[in-house]
Amino acid sequence: MKILLLGNTGQLGWELERALASLGEVAALDFPAINLLDEASTRQAVRSVAPQVIVNATGYTAVDKAESEPEIAAAMNTRAPAILAEEARTFGAALIHYSTDYVFDGLKGSPYVETDPPHPLGVYARTKLAGEQAVQQTGGAFLILRLSWMYSLRRDSFVTKVLGWARQQRSLRMVTDQVGNPIWARTAAEVTAQILAMGSADIVPWLAVRRGLYHFAGPDHASRYDWARTILRLDPRPQEQIAEQVLPALTDEFPTPACRPLFSALDSRKFTETFGLRPPAWEAALRLAMAY
Ligand SMILES: NC(=O)c1ccc[n+]([C@@H]2O[C@H](COP(=O)([O-])OP(=O)(O)OC[C@H]3O[C@@H](n4cnc5c(N)ncnc54)[C@H](OP(=O)(O)O)[C@@H]3O)[C@@H](O)[C@H]2O)c1
Repeated sequence: MKILLLGNTGQLGWELERALASLGEVAALDFPAINLLDEASTRQAVRSVAPQVIVNATGYTAVDKAESEPEIAAAMNTRAPAILAEEARTFGAALIHYSTDYVFDGLKGSPYVETDPPHPLGVYARTKLAGEQAVQQTGGAFLILRLSWMYSLRRDSFVTKVLGWARQQRSLRMVTDQVGNPIWARTAAEVTAQILAMGSADIVPWLAVRRGLYHFAGPDHASRYDWARTILRLDPRPQEQIAEQVLPALTDEFPTPACRPLFSALDSRKFTETFGLRPPAWEAALRLAMAY
């Protein structure tokens, strides 16, 4: 299988490069070798690799900064996936793309399913939703996985930030009213590789039959407060922590440029029924991630 992986230095892309390696030939590109803001060079890169599968792990992911850079966010999160979907359809390739729980407003109060109407609250979320829609409208063999609260230990993430704060501050304040599904980037990468392995040599028609939008999240969710406390409990070097307490707080106490949904947990039943794969519980995955 010939795979073009875009964004291989990002949280997810770094894990994907390793997870996809056993499936065949992986051409991995990231900025500046490819600039997805440049349409002509994006199309050219896809055509010169001529992949069977394009895995797009790129994105404009700076949620707050997107509020002041809506054009760049739209070019990366909406236009670039649309171009990749067009290229994939034209040349008979499959496209794997990732989206976000932030497409919802967080008011539902129970885990979101794929048919729940989206209502994004900020620029990042709006541009990601428009990217999903562009891929879906283009058609072809595509898979969109919506993820929530992804982390890795390699790049700045909530997990690395909490570990850092606990080494600098005696008291941490974490919000109890934001609830989601923490997901280790490696889990999302491995499940992508598993799906591609299931389709194997017939990946394009196999995926075309199953094409669509899927939620991928563990069976349970957590607040940022619970997540932070668990991170500190699983810290492999607890002797470095100076934090003595984690205090509960509310989102309103920490104003940010972008609004975030309060309850954005995702329901993965459609994914499990379609692919027969069960995402792990978030704490089990975190335990493994922290062991590395
Ligand atoms: N992080 C989360 O909590 C989360 C949650 C749900 C969904 N997602 C989605 O999952 C996907 C991967 O997220 P992530 O957290 O792994 O992202 P990330 O760590 O921010 O990585 C994004 C990648 O895109 C690359 N990139 C940015 N601008 C580019 C450009 N103009 N041309 C080419 N490459 C460019 C980045 O390169 P540089 O490093 O050089 O900028 C980086 O390698 C995204 O679609 C994101 O929306 C993320």
